[in-house]
Amino acid sequence: AHHWSAVEHNENIRCLTTLGHFGFECLPTQLVNRSIQKGFSFNILCVGETGIGKSTLINTLFNINLKESKASHFYSKVGLKVKTYELQDRNIPLKLTVVKTVGYGDQINKEASYQPVVDYLDAQFEAYLQEELKIKRSLVDYNDSRIHVCLYFIAPTGHSLKSLDLMTMKNIDRRVNIIPLIAKADALSKSDLQRFKSNIMSELVSNGIRIFQFPEDDEDAAQVNTSVNGLLPFAVVGSMEEVKVGKRMVRGRHYPWGVLQVENENHCDFVKLRDLLLCTHMEDLKDQTHTQHYECYRSSRLQQLGFHDTGPDSQPVSFQEMYEAKRQEFHAQCQREEEELKQTFMQRVKEKELTFKDAEKEARITHLTSILWVLFFGG
Ligand code: GTP
Repeated sequence: AHHWSAVEHNENIRCLTTLGHFGFECLPTQLVNRSIQKGFSFNILCVGETGIGKSTLINTLFNINLKESKASHFYSKVGLKVKTYELQDRNIPLKLTVVKTVGYGDQINKEASYQPVVDYLDAQFEAYLQEELKIKRSLVDYNDSRIHVCLYFIAPTGHSLKSLDLMTMKNIDRRVNIIPLIAKADALSKSDLQRFKSNIMSELVSNGIRIFQFPEDDEDAAQVNTSVNGLLPFAVVGSMEEVKVGKRMVRGRHYPWGVLQVENENHCDFVKLRDLLLCTHMEDLKDQTHTQHYECYRSSRLQQLGFHDTGPDSQPVSFQEMYEAKRQEFHAQCQREEEELKQTFMQRVKEKELTFKDAEKEARITHLTSILWVLFFGG
């Protein structure tokens, strides 16, 4: 038998501490087992100019080497390339979808550069919403293509953000978690990099652009997350090259004056980014996507479709009432249209009748004429 010790917590809820082994300590294990069976999926969007190092960084992050042809600078509009990979890490399957911009930043018209990205994000939300609204929905095995994180690649100018960067981020920040990255950070000196980082952050703030913030109210990780937020935007360097440092082979870039080690935290923030994306914050990013960005899309779409939570008197509207009101509105509209149709039909009939009458008269006259013709001229 199990013993409970009861602690009065507040008036409504009693807080009980188990004295013996009870069993629900295994609940987390159930979750783990189910997640392993189902596998994980993660969708990343990479936005950045042609040749800024998007593919190299993804390859370095996941240690995959996928040869890709280089994109041209001469596309007339921005496109998106979607690729899905099945990865395994110690038997844990991960379905990774990488969406990359093609031709971004090569157009003169800036709106044309970010609109395809906005449209893509919305299209994935819409697909999910349509599945949700189905009567027979299958959200469990639904292939969720909503983007969980957008890695925004900033060119290492050491100066400030470009107007295209600001416009794009402004238009997508309510739709996706943005993690800004300074690409090819090996192009900047240490002091330039610090200055560049703080310039970027103050520009983002003054333009009201929201980027993903690592939660600082989380008790366990508050300290780590605060220091991580202080590192944003992450300075990253990508490379698939193996370079010899001492006796070890490491991933890095070899320069005439030395070696930059990608995985060395003194050289760049690559490891921080990888840990956050893959080890510590993947669930956070997915959670935010669903509870914040998708929710925002969903509520504005449902309002567009005519749904409301409260009526004009701020009283909650029941679904039944809303349905009745919609049905009656629809019924009235049908009746109006039917009436109009009837009227037009009657009008047409009248017109036809008149023309028939005319035709009949004419026919009679012709008939009479032919009889008279026969009578007078004998056929
Ligand atoms: P597209 O898909 O063609 O738009 O290019 P991309 O943005 O995927 O760039 P990609 O990864 O193909 O890299 C373009 C060039 O930049 C390659 O020659 C890379 O070796 C180089 N490169 C990539 N990452 C870095 C980096 O961190 N630092 C430096 N210095 N060069 C890099």
